Amino acid sequence: MKFIVDQQVEDIEMPENLKLNTFLQEFHSNCPHPECSFGFYGFAFGQSPFAVPKPVQNALIDSAGKGAYAPVSGITELRNAISKYHKHYFHIDAAPERIYIGPGTKELIFNLLEILHGTVILPTPAWLGYLPQIRFLKKNYHMLPTRANRKISPSDLRKLALRLHDRQKILILNNPNNPTGLIYDQLELEEITDVCRELEITVISDEIYAQTTFDFSKFVSMGKVYPEGTFVTNGLSKSHAAGGYRLGYVIFPQHSPELKLQFKKILATEYTAVSTPIQHAAIAGFEISNEMEEYFQVTRKIHQIIGDYTYNELISIDGVKATKPESTFYLLADFNSYSSELQKAKIFTSQKLSESLIVHPYHTAIVGGDSLVLERTDFSARIAYVDYDGSKAYQNYIQHKPKTHSEKIEFVKSNAPKVVNGIKMIERFFNDLKNDLLKNENNSKNNLRLAS
Ligand SMILES: Cc1ncc(COP(=O)(O)O)c(C=O)c1O
Repeated sequence: MKFIVDQQVEDIEMPENLKLNTFLQEFHSNCPHPECSFGFYGFAFGQSPFAVPKPVQNALIDSAGKGAYAPVSGITELRNAISKYHKHYFHIDAAPERIYIGPGTKELIFNLLEILHGTVILPTPAWLGYLPQIRFLKKNYHMLPTRANRKISPSDLRKLALRLHDRQKILILNNPNNPTGLIYDQLELEEITDVCRELEITVISDEIYAQTTFDFSKFVSMGKVYPEGTFVTNGLSKSHAAGGYRLGYVIFPQHSPELKLQFKKILATEYTAVSTPIQHAAIAGFEISNEMEEYFQVTRKIHQIIGDYTYNELISIDGVKATKPESTFYLLADFNSYSSELQKAKIFTSQKLSESLIVHPYHTAIVGGDSLVLERTDFSARIAYVDYDGSKAYQNYIQHKPKTHSEKIEFVKSNAPKVVNGIKMIERFFNDLKNDLLKNENNSKNNLRLAS
């Protein structure tokens, strides 16, 4: 029997999680060298290394018997808890009626793109998750490349939006940002808002990393600055290390009753409601408690210590630049100063660079520029500094909080040795690249001399 796949599905870009799995299977074949039995240095997967917070785990166990379907928009207790959570942490008054629960923010962003007519503006570099959705829905879209500071330029946004004649334009703002780890401050959000108000741009503000912001007082939600035009999405996946729970939520803009009804139709059509026990477990994650507050503080601190280390080590490699992360567990490394060496070694694309780094002797997995919606020839890469045992690091951090610079470095070395060694491998790769080229050049000079 031959099955015919719908053309629309064949046409979509491979989503990043599948792409990474396929890539690692294909290129990280079992290495015959005994010293490589550790597998690989994993800078590719964007997953929090910590344990799911205990209150959430316990609440899930207690809710195992709850077998009834939940209401389409989510259980009332959870929507109330999220409303209070937003008031407490993000200073936003979001009535529970504006909050909808979904199976992860990825699905909710897809649902929003389904109900919102219009052309999508996608700033780049970007999390790869957005593009397959936009393509699948056959939406018009335009990239908005960021400049050297890797943030949206309000004037570029304005110029682009003025060229678009669609009745509605939708900006996907990802703050804090995957892959750069950067955050937008109040003024930057206000400048973007001015353009959005002038040109009536709707914003989907993906704030899934908000709670991981190292200096939490610096995080500002777009939902606060542009409340009438912003859909804020967030969830359990990153800040609560519970991507596998599949629970996210969206806060609708103020005054959007008709839209909420349309949205409910979509949710009811596609998934009825999120699993009831998971919704009950999530309440414990969003309730304001000392235990959750400690969890957020400790995990943020560890992300910061390892992020600072990764950043400092990477930029100390000759010619390598990087964004200095302020949130998330990523940074964007820029290897473009090696373009000519890479090209001479027949590495013409970021995909090929990722392939060259994953094979022996380097065994280092990164996410290349093409998976970040950059040009294929842009040798930038996302480095996710999460390849360590988060539960162990958490315990060690609590027992002895590293304060001085050298204590922090010691903390990274003893708790995240694969991060330390993976960065060394990146350095070795670029050293080898330079040295091999030098050797080749010398050989060809010698050959010429011999021939003449
Ligand atoms: C920027 C960004 N948005 C959304 C998601 C998906 O989150 P969820 O697990 O809630 O679907 C991710 C996951 O990697 C992400 O990096």
